[in-house]
Amino acid sequence: MVMRIQPSATFSGTAVVPGDKSVTHRCLLFSAIAEGTSEIHGGGTGEDNRSTLSAIRSLGVEASEEGGVIRVVGRGLRGLVAPQEPIDCGNSGTTARLMVGMLAGAGIPSTLIGDESLSGRPMARVADPLKELGYEVETTGARRTMPLHVRATADTERDARPVRAVLKLASAQVKSCIMLSGLYRSAVTQIIEPAASRDHTERLLRAMGARVESSAHYLDPVGMASADELPHTTLHPGSTLRGGRFEVPGDISSAAFLLVAGLLVGQGVEVRNVGINPTRTGILDVFRRMGANVTLANRRVLSTGEPVADISVAPGVLSGTVIGGAEIPLLIDEIPVLAVLGAAGRGEFVVRDAEELRVKESDRVATTAAILRAMGVQVEERPDGLAFEGLGGAGWDGFEVDAFLDHRIGMAAAVAALGARSECRLTGASAIAVSYPDFAETMRRFGAAIDEDEA
Ligand code: S3P
Repeated sequence: MVMRIQPSATFSGTAVVPGDKSVTHRCLLFSAIAEGTSEIHGGGTGEDNRSTLSAIRSLGVEASEEGGVIRVVGRGLRGLVAPQEPIDCGNSGTTARLMVGMLAGAGIPSTLIGDESLSGRPMARVADPLKELGYEVETTGARRTMPLHVRATADTERDARPVRAVLKLASAQVKSCIMLSGLYRSAVTQIIEPAASRDHTERLLRAMGARVESSAHYLDPVGMASADELPHTTLHPGSTLRGGRFEVPGDISSAAFLLVAGLLVGQGVEVRNVGINPTRTGILDVFRRMGANVTLANRRVLSTGEPVADISVAPGVLSGTVIGGAEIPLLIDEIPVLAVLGAAGRGEFVVRDAEELRVKESDRVATTAAILRAMGVQVEERPDGLAFEGLGGAGWDGFEVDAFLDHRIGMAAAVAALGARSECRLTGASAIAVSYPDFAETMRRFGAAIDEDEA
């Protein structure tokens, strides 16, 4: 699909965004192995979450949808059935990496496959720790990618050994994978990360009745970044998960596009009911450092243990900043659109310590650099990030760029297009539906002129 975007003179309004993709995946997966029926309210509507929904169905789980509520009939920890076919995770890395931990723990023989983008992404990061714990999980090919194969192994000795996993990467997907396998063990599972990654798994497991303890890093990742001890999480054995009514916050990673558009060309943008979990709000700190005016109102905590608020931004003069270190996991998915904001600002904008960007839905160092170059920015690509001088008042001309099979690259480019002097074209725009199917519609409501055609 091609999106044609005209320069925008006005962009303002109030919106809600789709339910948080990460929290929705977890609600679906954990409800599937809980006791009793769960109701998931405000879940994400994108293709990635649909991949998890169809994955749990293929494991014998009954799930229905009505009026934006997903009802999942839990089968209990031991109630999943082996799938008839390979489980198709589509574009969703979280589906693949969390499912493999659950399937290994539950001893369900299975094969996981994905689309072209997911099939190129590294899976050794989950297969290796699982193998070390004694599960039989195989990746494919020299690059250790999908298909992923799980062979069923019952091993009571393995399951009775306490686990202390020290992760090389701050990754919520790897952490959650190991925790899910831990639900099936009879000893404690401890996970230590080099920096705090998003803690949605921990919060939801707690809300469902599991005993999970987390160090203070997950409540104050920035403040605790220089503490002597590393972020750690402990899952105690013997937990049965209870189904319930789970409310999903709006996805700050989707809100990011509206907020940046608001800062670039807007007259005031508000996104309501957005998740403000401290392991996700790095973007708001960066906005403030760049000189933006950010307001949070109506704070409350949902039944998933997730805090939410209404977020407003008002445009101001933007300057560059340096993003790196323990801040990276707190805004990893927002870096492409933050770079677009940096390109519009004055002064140097640097991203470092973000080599993980290279293995997202696309190589986001290269694809973000492609957007910036299309805008006329002279960008230096580095192994772990980017560095460039913002265009400041000089502005940029219309451009054409591709989404590179990556929803967030597509949306970051569309936001950049709003600020151009002439029409822009975005090819491969259908990727956007992975997380935000109503993106173009919402942007139009705010005043953007966007046409889509199937060509
Ligand atoms: C996610 C964790 C992050 C993030 C991804 C979703 C999750 O990945 O980039 O979009 O839901 O756990 P990593 O855990 O690999 O950093």
